[in-house]
Amino acid sequence: MKIDAVTIFPEYFSPLQLSLIGKAQENDLVDIAIHNLRDYTEDNHHSVDDTPYGGGAGMVMKPEIWGQVLDPLMVPDTDLIILTPAGEVFTQRMAEELAQSPHLIFACGRYEGIDARVGQYYSQDSFAQQGIRVREVSIGDYVLGGGEVAALVMIEAITRLLPGVLGNPESLVEESHALEGFLEYPTYTKPKIWRHIEVPEILLSGNHAAIAKWRADEAAKRGRK
Ligand code: 6GU
Repeated sequence: MKIDAVTIFPEYFSPLQLSLIGKAQENDLVDIAIHNLRDYTEDNHHSVDDTPYGGGAGMVMKPEIWGQVLDPLMVPDTDLIILTPAGEVFTQRMAEELAQSPHLIFACGRYEGIDARVGQYYSQDSFAQQGIRVREVSIGDYVLGGGEVAALVMIEAITRLLPGVLGNPESLVEESHALEGFLEYPTYTKPKIWRHIEVPEILLSGNHAAIAKWRADEAAKRGRK
C-alpha cells in the first residue's frame, strides 16, 4: 500500500517511524510519503489560507495549492481522504475497507478547513471512472486543531490490518469477532496475585471450553450493543 499525507506540519507524522508502522515501512509493506503543502505555494509569504467568502470567523485553506499538490498524486485506484470534523465517522469497518485500497491520500486541513471545491473537483465522474474515490472523514465527535492527528489514527488502524504487519494475525481474527457485537474480555498475566487481587480462577483451570464461555460472558458484560 502507498500512503501520501499532505499537511503544513510534516513533523506531526514523525511517530510513523516507530513500532509496528516503522517496521512495516522498513519491510516495504507500506510506503508512506509526507508532503509539505507550503512547498507548493508560489507567493513570497507562502500563504495557504484566506478569509471565508460570506464572512465569519477563521480562515479557509486556498484551493489552488491543494490542486497543485494533489493533481500528480491522483493516479487511478486512489482513495482521497479529506479530514474534517464534519465528515463521516471513522470506524473499524471503514478501516477494513480502506485496507483493501492500493493508494490512500490524507488531506489534512487546518483552520476552518479546505475550500469545499477541492473535494467537489476530485469527486467528478471523470475521476470516479478512473477508480478515484473521495471521502470526508472525522474520527469522532470533538474538534481537533487540524486533521494531522486524525490521519495518524486512521493510518495506525488501517496499516495494522495489512498482510504481514502484525506478528500474530490471530489477534485480528479474535478482534473482528469481538467487534461484531462485543468489546473484548479482560486479560491477565503473571503474577497470579498482585496487590491482593487474584486472577479469576477459571483462567487457571485448563478447561478451555469453560474459559471460552467465561470470556464470552465477560465480553458481553462490557458490550455496547
Ligand atoms: Cl478529521 N479534523 C478536525 N479538525 N477535528 C476532528 C476530526 C478531524 N475528527 C474529529 N475531530
